[in-house]
Amino acid sequence: MNKFLPAPIVATIFGAVLAMLLTACEPAIEPIDTAVELGPDPHSYANYEQVRVEHLSLALAADFSDRTLTGHVTLDLAQDDLAERLVLDTWKLSIRDVNRVGPDGELQPLSWRLVEPDAESEYLGAPLVVAMERGVEQVRIDYTTSPEAFGLQWLDGQQTTSGEPFLFSQSQPIFARTWVPLQDTPAVRYTFDAEITVPDDLMATMGAAGNPTEINADGVYEFNMPQPIPSYLMAIGIGKLDFQATGPRSGVYAEPSLVEAAAEEFSELEAMIDAGEELYGPYRWDRYDLLILPPSFPFGGMENPRLSFITPTVIAGDKSLTALIAHELAHSWSGNLVTNSAWQDLWLNEGFTTYFENRIVEALYGPERAEMEATLDRIGLQEELKELDDAEQVLARDLSGQDPEQAFNGVPYDKGRLFLLWLEDSFGRETLDAFLRQYFDHFAFESIDTEQFIAYLEANLLPKDPDAVTMEQVREWIFEPGLPEYAVLPASGAFDKVDEWRRQWLDGEIELNEIPVDEWTVSEWRHFLLKLGDRLSAEQMAAMDAEFGLTGTGNVEILYLWLVRAIETRYEPGIARLEQFLLEVGRNKFTRPLYEELAATDWGRAWAIDVYQRAKPGYHPLTRQAAERALGIDEQTGTE
Ligand code: BES
Ligand code: ZN
Repeated sequence: MNKFLPAPIVATIFGAVLAMLLTACEPAIEPIDTAVELGPDPHSYANYEQVRVEHLSLALAADFSDRTLTGHVTLDLAQDDLAERLVLDTWKLSIRDVNRVGPDGELQPLSWRLVEPDAESEYLGAPLVVAMERGVEQVRIDYTTSPEAFGLQWLDGQQTTSGEPFLFSQSQPIFARTWVPLQDTPAVRYTFDAEITVPDDLMATMGAAGNPTEINADGVYEFNMPQPIPSYLMAIGIGKLDFQATGPRSGVYAEPSLVEAAAEEFSELEAMIDAGEELYGPYRWDRYDLLILPPSFPFGGMENPRLSFITPTVIAGDKSLTALIAHELAHSWSGNLVTNSAWQDLWLNEGFTTYFENRIVEALYGPERAEMEATLDRIGLQEELKELDDAEQVLARDLSGQDPEQAFNGVPYDKGRLFLLWLEDSFGRETLDAFLRQYFDHFAFESIDTEQFIAYLEANLLPKDPDAVTMEQVREWIFEPGLPEYAVLPASGAFDKVDEWRRQWLDGEIELNEIPVDEWTVSEWRHFLLKLGDRLSAEQMAAMDAEFGLTGTGNVEILYLWLVRAIETRYEPGIARLEQFLLEVGRNKFTRPLYEELAATDWGRAWAIDVYQRAKPGYHPLTRQAAERALGIDEQTGTE
């Protein structure tokens, strides 16, 4: 290039490129190498193979008027060889200062740079590079989060039932870096302590020990986490919260108006922990509480250790949706205790958990309910597989260069579960259970990848019955698309009856009041509504509504399927309910497909955009992103 351009221009271009690469927040004390690369985890810039965070101390204050967390984090480091740099993950953090903490706690400035995010993968954020001097054991970073942090949702008083503001985090998969500068990879585990300052009348809770049971007059709360966790399990929730115990080591946190209903709905929490221990060994996190979030929480549940975060939409009044609690609890073994070391191994977390969840449901509610729930998921998976390309159907899926959000489809969950069900069928329950118990013990508090699991399986399960399965079959499950033809598919006899009632009604052979719905579980309702097909008319919807009162159902799983049918048939009372639902609930599992369904109709897109614009202020950034994609709204400008 410099053959053709005069030197001053080359220098200018060079300077501009350098300025683009380096955000000069702070003059460097000494030159610093800002070249970064992705490590064995393609979603983290952290150089954790050279230097590892072992403990983290947080001191943060929540400011609801600016929607920021401000304070500092101190990282305790361990190094094998002397590392020259510490590279941390961050996303839109404003870094004020980076210091070395000396033996007596004195601070000495270190050189640091925030590297400009890569345009192709902005979701990975901006690596923070810190020059390490000899013998640095502790680094303190003073910073403030961005109001746009994906890992935090700030709600004001109008958006909560208590009328007080609320903040909650969602760190999985790579959003911890939006509120703490750290090694944001599940390959690294650390313990932590935290001091959190909040407005006087609010309570702070964390996925940690030390959760209060009452609001504290000075607004300062202290936590510690003695068990080492990966960053995606960092969690904070702040609001006007009450606590109600459900047992000696369990309870629920919720806004005052909801706490009683939540404690009643989840009164079996303690029994679920016992069932989990019975299956796969001791619960190693001391307490297990639930934090019930406002309805804008973008997920059903998040397995934050010691304190799972739960959508209020599963409070159905009849304990019919508690499989979700069983799921988040099961992660206390599969996921939180033995952790996927990168997001391509997500099935080790979610597949094992989905299998385990169903075993807890079976232990508490019996095999019929468990079988029905497993069958619905299996049918859902088979439908989903038709829409996915081959790469997306693989359990251990290469995600380099892709947003890790891509990993979260039904495959790691339900194909993962079917893999374990096949092992159960091949070796017998007792043998598989003993193997799983041993697996959780062996890898407790470690992060592992798919190959480590396969090697462990080959050494410890296959010899139990050398004729049961082959390694080729195991590899087919894990590395090939689709379902092997020898898969064992859950099927529920109860659904055959539902199919027959539905057919008879649609064919005009019987009246709706002849269907014995009083005996139906939520799963039977779901199965009924799922398969109504496209023969339905708005008149038939009205007839069903008159008979069963579905527009007014308090069960969110039934309501969701009913609303999908209402969109298909343009059934007006259902559409009115849909508007109310979209304005209130931000759970992506429901909002995304509802917006997609609407966008696919000739009348629905404009209507949905109008509803979305009104709902948007109350939505989580993740819900907004998914809805905007569904509706074809430009994510930057918010226009069509
Ligand atoms: N770990 C997930 C939540 C999650 C999903 C976080 C995707 C980040 C990205 C949690 O354990 C989960 O799977 N929740 C499900 C419920 C479950 C019963 C399938 C959910 O939220 O719907
Ligand atoms: Zn899960």
